[in-house]
Amino acid sequence: MTTAPDMAEGPQLDRVAFFADLDAPSLEQIAGVMRKRTFRAGEAIFHRDDPGQVLYVIREGRVRIRLTSVEGQEVALAVFGPGDSFGEMAILDSQPRSADAIAIDKVEVFTLQRPDFVEVVRKHPDISVAVMKTLSQRIRQANQMVEDLIFLDVFGRVAKKLLDLSREYGVETEDGVKIDLRITQQELASMVGASRESVNKVMGYFTDKHYISTDKHKITIRRIADLQKRIY
Ligand code: CMP
Repeated sequence: MTTAPDMAEGPQLDRVAFFADLDAPSLEQIAGVMRKRTFRAGEAIFHRDDPGQVLYVIREGRVRIRLTSVEGQEVALAVFGPGDSFGEMAILDSQPRSADAIAIDKVEVFTLQRPDFVEVVRKHPDISVAVMKTLSQRIRQANQMVEDLIFLDVFGRVAKKLLDLSREYGVETEDGVKIDLRITQQELASMVGASRESVNKVMGYFTDKHYISTDKHKITIRRIADLQKRIY
């Protein structure tokens, strides 16, 4: 179902990198032409190669951007959360969607139609600098992913991802740094571009060596230095 937002439940555009520098009246004007949509956990927001006519801004929940091989193996290009936007590429280059966007949990997004986005950029040219900045950051991350895929083995990629996640979601505990996020081995596999089976082997090895422990899909890093040494 698609509905017009009321202000209290609006898209909170001041949190969105593209729009953060606009004044309140301009933000209200843009919010007024956006439409709210909700998706259930696991639901596809769109698929790769779909035509793309709208930009999405996340209000609630997380979205996985992924590519899937014909054999069904998937690689996660990014995970976005509240305040992030996605779907700008098809809007900017008029090509189909470059990847799938899947709701990880219940997701609430606000959509902005391409003509409205173009109009906003014409009125506020500084937005294009913010868009370029976001695209640069995404290219940087994509380069990093290519580098890791080429130069690190699966042990190194898993070790690196666990350390990245511990920096972002880590909570200090008696046993070590607990990653406060439920992650299945399948999800971890898609984050590092490996099969679930090989990630399962690596996690078993790290657990046997007491580098990590896992409880209810939450991973605790017990020996940071040893994991770090595994990245080469
Ligand atoms: P679009 O191609 O319209 O649809 C898929 C979206 O995923 C894309 O726009 C970007 O918003 C996002 N996306 C695609 N590739 C990457 C990437 N490598 N890193 C981060 N986000 C991406």
